[in-house]
Amino acid sequence: MKVGVIGGGRMAEAFVRGIVASGVVAADDVVVNDISDVRCDLLQGSYGVTICRDNRALVAGADVVILAVKPQGLDAVLAEIAPAVTQANLVISIAAGKHLAGIGAFLEAVRLVRVMPNLPATVGEGMSVFCMGPGTSTSDRDTVVRLLSSFGKVHELPEAQFDAVTALSGSGPAFFAHYLAEFIAGGCDLGLDREAATLLATQTMLGTARLLTEQAITPAELVKAVCSKKGTTEAGMQHLGSPVLGEIVRATLDAAAERSRELSA
Ligand SMILES: NC(=O)c1ccc[n+]([C@@H]2O[C@H](COP(=O)([O-])OP(=O)(O)OC[C@H]3O[C@@H](n4cnc5c(N)ncnc54)[C@H](OP(=O)(O)O)[C@@H]3O)[C@@H](O)[C@H]2O)c1
Repeated sequence: MKVGVIGGGRMAEAFVRGIVASGVVAADDVVVNDISDVRCDLLQGSYGVTICRDNRALVAGADVVILAVKPQGLDAVLAEIAPAVTQANLVISIAAGKHLAGIGAFLEAVRLVRVMPNLPATVGEGMSVFCMGPGTSTSDRDTVVRLLSSFGKVHELPEAQFDAVTALSGSGPAFFAHYLAEFIAGGCDLGLDREAATLLATQTMLGTARLLTEQAITPAELVKAVCSKKGTTEAGMQHLGSPVLGEIVRATLDAAAERSRELSA
C-alpha cells in the first residue's frame, strides 16, 4: 500500500510515525508533502519517508491519500488535486469540521473517509473516530482501521455525531490537560514542589485511565472503591462532587460542539 500525505504538521507526523513504526506501511511506501522545507526535511530525516513537492504527482502515485492540512486550507488543496484523483485512490480527510459532502463536491465519485484523530496519537495513544463515505467497501474500512490502529484506539460513528466527537476526543486532550494543571497548582499550594506535583498528578491521571480501561470498571465504581467512610477521599469529594463541576464540563463540551457546528456550516 502506497500512502501519500498532504500537509506535514503535527497530526500528519503522528500518523506517519504510527504507520511506519508499527510496520503497517513501509517507510519507502510513504510520500509526504508540506509547504515548509523544514517540515519536509524533518519528516524525511526522522521517518525515512519520501518527499514529493507536487500534490498532484503525490496523489497519482498513492493508493491512500491523507488530507492533513488545516481546515481553512483544505478547499484549495482539494481544488488542486481534483484533476489527479481517481477511483484508485482512497481519500482520508482528518480536517476538523469538514463534511464528507463538502469534500465530495470537489472530488467526484471518490472513495472518501472522514477521521477525527487526536494529539495523543503522537505517543501511540490516540483516539480516532471515523465514518466511511459512499462508495467505500469493507476492504476500505479494513484499511482505515489498520492504519488508524497503528497510533491508538479506533471507533466508527455516524458523521452526524462528529461535532460531539470533536468536543470530546478532538478537543478533549486540552480539557484534561487544563484539569491536570489545576491539580498540579493545588499540589504546589499544599507544599509540593512543581516537579513532584507534576509527576504525582500526571501519573495518577494516566494510572486511573489505565485502571478504568483494563479492568472495565466505571468511573463511579472507582470513586466508590477509593472513598472509604469518613476518609480523605470522601472529604475531598464533598467539594469535587458538587454539581457545579458537572455544569462547567457540560458548558465546555457544549461550547466546543457548537463551535464545531459553526466551523462546518
Ligand atoms: N492538532 C490536533 O489536535 C488535531 C486533532 C484532530 C484533527 N486535526 C486536524 O488535522 C489537520 C492538521 O492539523 P495539524 O494540527 O497537524 O496542523 P498543522 O500542524 O498546521 O499542519 C498542517 C500543515 O500543512 C501544511 N500545508 C498547508 N497547505 C498545504 C499544501 N497546499 N500542501 C502541503 N502542505 C500544506 C501547513 O504548512 P503552513 O503551516 O506553512 O501553512 C502545515 O505544516 C487539521 O485539519 C486539523 O483540523 C488536528
